[in-house]
Amino acid sequence: MKIMQVKVEVQHAETATAEALVLTHCEGEALAKQDVSLLDRALAGSLGTLVRSKEFEGKANEVLLYHTQGTLPVKRLVLVGLGKKSDVTLETIRQAMGSSVKRVRQAKVGSYAVALPTVLPAGMSWVEVAQAMVEGAILGSYQFTVYRSEVTPGREVAEMRILIPRKALLRPVTEGIRRGVATAEATVFVRDLCNHPSNVLTPTRVADEAKSIAKAEKITIKVLEQSEMERLGMGALLGVARGSQEPPKFIILEYNGAKKKAERPVVLVGKTITFDTGGISLKPAENMEHMKADMTGGAEVLASIRAAARLKLPLRLISILPVAENMPGGRAMKPGDIVKTLSGKTVEVQNTDAEGRLILADGLAYALRYKPTALIDIATLTGACVVALGQFAIGMFGTDQKLKEQVGKAGQKAGERVWEMPLWEEYFEQLKSDVADMRNIGGRGGGMITAALFLSKFVGDCPWVHIDIASTDWSERERAYIPKGPTGIGTRLLLQYLIDRSL
Ligand code: BES
Ligand code: MN
Ligand code: ZN
Repeated sequence: MKIMQVKVEVQHAETATAEALVLTHCEGEALAKQDVSLLDRALAGSLGTLVRSKEFEGKANEVLLYHTQGTLPVKRLVLVGLGKKSDVTLETIRQAMGSSVKRVRQAKVGSYAVALPTVLPAGMSWVEVAQAMVEGAILGSYQFTVYRSEVTPGREVAEMRILIPRKALLRPVTEGIRRGVATAEATVFVRDLCNHPSNVLTPTRVADEAKSIAKAEKITIKVLEQSEMERLGMGALLGVARGSQEPPKFIILEYNGAKKKAERPVVLVGKTITFDTGGISLKPAENMEHMKADMTGGAEVLASIRAAARLKLPLRLISILPVAENMPGGRAMKPGDIVKTLSGKTVEVQNTDAEGRLILADGLAYALRYKPTALIDIATLTGACVVALGQFAIGMFGTDQKLKEQVGKAGQKAGERVWEMPLWEEYFEQLKSDVADMRNIGGRGGGMITAALFLSKFVGDCPWVHIDIASTDWSERERAYIPKGPTGIGTRLLLQYLIDRSL
């Protein structure tokens, strides 16, 4: 998908020219109090009539388009609701932008304008408002059409202009646009990778994508091949890959924008299973196609490092992707097999479908070599996460209070909220094995927790956070700025964390 161009312009709604102008409106507010009173006069009061007659109330995501018929320089007005003024958040704004851009596209308008909302959500800045606007608009217009032979041309919204009332807003809004474009294009990239089927997006293709990103940005890359992994002793990742014809990859990317080059890095590790059949512990057929998105975590750490480089964030960042396809096959790992992980610890593989924690065990152990100041892994790790949290919360675990708080705040701001779960040692009794240091499943009860606790055995005493996105990586329905299918959720959470800690 081509990312729309976003511009800023000091301009009032009454004098702006555009094919369509989006105006936000809060429920229950009189028009006069808002910026639109002048506009309403130009329209001979029809805006006011619409609001008074409750044909348009300003409820969140309510959208109304109408033609100005020459009464104004803009051809169409698109009113979009923000809900009650006191409840407006960055998320409301993001959603309003998603809902309105869809209406704009429906009207076959290629370039439109949006007036900056007049309400500033509590505790937020105009930088953040502009960022949320851009995110909502770009992500709301997301489409994945690569494999369709009939695409209607000219149906893409190519440009959005944010109209600001005064020059003083130019700087914050420009910065917000810069950030919003970066976080949205990162999310689009993740959605695309997740949408590509596993026959296209193989581990080798993931490595190729990573290489081309490294080449285009100021990022160094190392891709370990199977023989190298054998030499190092990555028995867990190799075990998962055994059943597949596709060779595994271990990708390490480094971006260094830090002032002090030797600064300790933030390290991100993303689960990258290009398809999860379950292996010999085969999954049921229903919805198995969703498992092409079992590489969401890896795509997100890849997108994040690209965005960090594009934003020139002043920090040192390393992204690690252990990549494999989980297949049953003549040489596949079998229940009861014991693998030796990179850390030296042994694992009895009682269920080959609990493969994410295995590849992450090697990914996390490798990450420790960089002595991270913060270590974050992100993974579509457990079905239990879906059961526990449903569609609206991401599971979070961690060993470091400050890091957990930072991630929590970033999630709140990004509209990708995390919910902390316990990482109590008591649960480890469920992971005990009779024959190895531990087993890879924890039995019934607390499946998201035992998976996280398993990972914790591979992070030493490094400040660490684990993010389980199995609940949110795939959406059953279309929402304001979230499509049906792969959502890319987690990308903006990671990026917001990186932005907030470095700027
Ligand atoms: N990739 C799955 C988890 C998943 C499930 C992600 C649903 C998204 C939606 C993971 O590899 C898996 O299969 N986990 C097993 C673990 C079990 C065997 C202990 C699960 O959750 O069923
Ligand atoms: Mn699995
Ligand atoms: Zn999996």
